[in-house]
Amino acid sequence: MPLLFRKVNELRNYLNTLRCEGGKSVGFVPTMGYLHEGHKKLIETSKLQNEITVVSIYVNPTQFGPGEDYERYPRDLNRDMSVCEELGVDVVFAPTDEEMYPAGNSTEVYVRGLSEVLEGKFRPGHFKGVATVVTKLLNVVQPDRAYFGEKDYQQLKIIERMVKDLLIPVQIVPVEIVREPDGLAYSSRNVYLSSEERESALSIYRSFLLAEKMIKAGERNAQRIKEAMETYIRKHPHVKKIDYIEITDPELNPKEEVQEGDRILVAVWVGNTRLIDNWKVSL
Ligand code: PAF
Repeated sequence: MPLLFRKVNELRNYLNTLRCEGGKSVGFVPTMGYLHEGHKKLIETSKLQNEITVVSIYVNPTQFGPGEDYERYPRDLNRDMSVCEELGVDVVFAPTDEEMYPAGNSTEVYVRGLSEVLEGKFRPGHFKGVATVVTKLLNVVQPDRAYFGEKDYQQLKIIERMVKDLLIPVQIVPVEIVREPDGLAYSSRNVYLSSEERESALSIYRSFLLAEKMIKAGERNAQRIKEAMETYIRKHPHVKKIDYIEITDPELNPKEEVQEGDRILVAVWVGNTRLIDNWKVSL
């Protein structure tokens, strides 16, 4: 079993001893638990690139807005510990709220600009919560490398910006999206979907294939591609609402003409579940 720490100071002392002993490289995978194949890919990548792998499991209250799914977000530490054991994780950090947000806590980290577009418009305050908790976690673990999935592409871009701006000495390593065999991107929130809703959720992945087909046939107009995707997704019975379908360059600036390496980003409500996904354009 990996070593489990719940207190900041205990984890710090342990990692300091390791660093002093042999200057071992530390890879860090921050998560909110309920680990799935997407997390496994992050952990495996860290295992390949570092001597020690630390996984954090913490459902961070400050990144959930009022009425969001903080209370019902899936949690199962025993199951997560077994997954970590299987993958050879060295250390799990599962702090309490008091450890992460000590009494009197009054400091936040906010990445202007990038936090206001796309997800930021629909989840005000979300990225402030993410940037703040990731800064704290990086300060505790002080890893050489930290691993973030491209599934949360905007989050990845915000963390890259934040680490650069705050001169945090860590290498951010992006890891590609992992999909189920039928194309649904792995997400802890997929457990909320009924089987009928899951079928409708596949329209997201299939709309990317539709976009790719249009692009390969020579279409470059972003508006026409977005409209075709929207029409296709809306046809599915459990799709309640599309928050956005956007095409941007890799740094999240909106595009009118599509190019190699651009991103198509989507947020869709299927039943009561909000799903996000994205796709890298290849011509
Ligand atoms: O991507 C997530 O699971 C969370 O946003 C993160 C990075 C662990 C911060 O709570």
